[in-house]
Amino acid sequence: MEIIHSFASYIDQYKRSIENPEEFWTEVANDFHWRKNWDSVLEWDFHKAEVQWFKDGKLNITENCLDRHLPTCANQTAIIWEPNDPSEASIHITYQELYVNVCRVANMLKANGIQKGDRVCIYMPMIPEVAYAMLACARIGAVHSVVFAGFSAGSLIDRINDAGCKLVLTSDGAYRGDKVIGLKSIIDEALEKCPTVERVIVAKRTMSRVAMKPGRDVWWNDEVKKVTDSCAAEEMDAEDLLFILYTSGSTGKPKGMVHTCGGYMVFTNYTFRTAFQYQERQVYWCTADVGWITGHSYILYGPLSAGAITLMFEGIPSWPDMGRFWHVIEKHRVNIFYTAPTAIRSLEKAPLSFVKQYDLHSLKVLGTVGEPINEEAWHWYHENIGHGKCPVIDTWWQTETGGFMISPIANITKLKPAYATLPLPGIQPAVMDENGNELLANGVEGRLAIRFPWPSMARTIYGDHQRFKDTYFSTFPGKYFTGDGCKRDDEGYYRITGRVDDIIIVSGHNMGTAEIESAIDEHSAVCETAVVGYPHDIKGQGIYAYVICYDRPHEEDKLRNEIRELVAKIIGPIAKPDKIQFVSGLPKTRSGKIMRRILRKVAEGDTSNLGDVTTLLDPSVVDEIKAGAI
Ligand code: PRX
Repeated sequence: MEIIHSFASYIDQYKRSIENPEEFWTEVANDFHWRKNWDSVLEWDFHKAEVQWFKDGKLNITENCLDRHLPTCANQTAIIWEPNDPSEASIHITYQELYVNVCRVANMLKANGIQKGDRVCIYMPMIPEVAYAMLACARIGAVHSVVFAGFSAGSLIDRINDAGCKLVLTSDGAYRGDKVIGLKSIIDEALEKCPTVERVIVAKRTMSRVAMKPGRDVWWNDEVKKVTDSCAAEEMDAEDLLFILYTSGSTGKPKGMVHTCGGYMVFTNYTFRTAFQYQERQVYWCTADVGWITGHSYILYGPLSAGAITLMFEGIPSWPDMGRFWHVIEKHRVNIFYTAPTAIRSLEKAPLSFVKQYDLHSLKVLGTVGEPINEEAWHWYHENIGHGKCPVIDTWWQTETGGFMISPIANITKLKPAYATLPLPGIQPAVMDENGNELLANGVEGRLAIRFPWPSMARTIYGDHQRFKDTYFSTFPGKYFTGDGCKRDDEGYYRITGRVDDIIIVSGHNMGTAEIESAIDEHSAVCETAVVGYPHDIKGQGIYAYVICYDRPHEEDKLRNEIRELVAKIIGPIAKPDKIQFVSGLPKTRSGKIMRRILRKVAEGDTSNLGDVTTLLDPSVVDEIKAGAI
């Protein structure tokens, strides 16, 4: 499929993708290496939440990310690895080297008992081995479940047990700015409650002393020496599982989103090349962690299947100083830079001299993802980082969608600050009102749904198809519901306004309020909790917890600290509440439902119009909450 090169060709491809989706996606899919072609392009039923793309097509995604580039690009860099500490050397890994390493790690997994279909948990820092690990799983048909290395033992236990992982890949520790995080000890704590794990393979990164459990734990370096570096790729069906990735739900435990091989490959590749207009040999840098979907789709699978040069960064934007991103861009002459609004907002607060000391003229395209970007941050990014010349590609998508859905196409779509702009080919958005009617005109605001399947959509929630159906396909029968609110302006441009459910996005990380509430409730002094989001200058949203204790606390700050530490331990430091207000009651309806609307308003600092509170069980708690707001 020819890449879109003008606005007219966008309109043409979009039209074709809607009028004849099967023909359109066949043409895109024909650009890949399939061992056997599919028998049907698409089978679907949104009422049953069932979708299959390229059924009976046979492939291996790593043949498309690695083997097929070797005849022409073996010596071209595939991954540039930039370490946490700028004084340590960066590494250029060619496609040939990546191929060899992936094959070796694939053989290491096999030698340690892993077969097609087995689930492997990956809990690792951003080091080259994590890329080898993911691709090695894909090579042998094992299903990877990457858990972000900032999550705690409690979160690991839920995820490892839900997926029934047999093996864990980890490292001794991780560097994060000037801190060292003991990943292996977190794994050790988690595995006391994970009966399915038989083997742990530990890569060395920080050289920290770690405990190794005999019979269970082995060193990566020793294991890779025992195997050869040739490993034939397993033949996978297009609909076989490629990976599980957990995302927060508005209720209950995290949801293991299931992505499959064929459609995911086709769509992440197509959207990567289209939205960023990637040109051969450009250096592309996505600052996400591989623990999130952005890292899966747009550090590894999308760019590598396109034969791109993808930069992997181990560190953080603020260390050794607030100029680190800009230093890395100069150092590696980055052409396409893709980051999160929260990072932009925090870097915007630093003196401009951190930006000005670096030469950023290599940049051609900028991107953002993860949450709505405010206009001010958009302009700062556009002017100071892109010198007013680089388009800002505001990509709206989700863990569940696998790839970009609504996004400008670089240098083709006219931009509008804070707008994700127009749907990519194949994507059919629908704006719905509260009663479930589709708003067909422009100039409307409502809830965002998707009318028709696209190849990289999640197929189910691992082990719980009913929950998949209930969460995504029951709100608007026959449509996929995103959980986001949006505006469609007079030109048909989309602006995503944020979540309309009980998920909050803190520094670009998706979190369920219910999950944080149940962590806080674990504290012995706590009787009940309600958590809401509130606008936060840098993080986008902050976490505000209203907590009822059995006895009025004597030392409130001490208890606040204990609660924060407890949440960090159970979920991870990213879920620590920013504000904790102790209250004697929560605003509840007579049927016992917490009126979160009121709590959100108070947390926002807007108590002028709380709406009708007379239907509450005890309206007087509202005054107390207002008076004690932080
Ligand atoms: O609310 C939307 C927001 O992030 C949610 C998805 O989060 P997650 O599954 O963690 O995936 C993040 C990386 C794709 C969405 O429901 N979101 C994501 N991108 C944008 C966004 N909100 C506004 N604009 C965006 N560009």
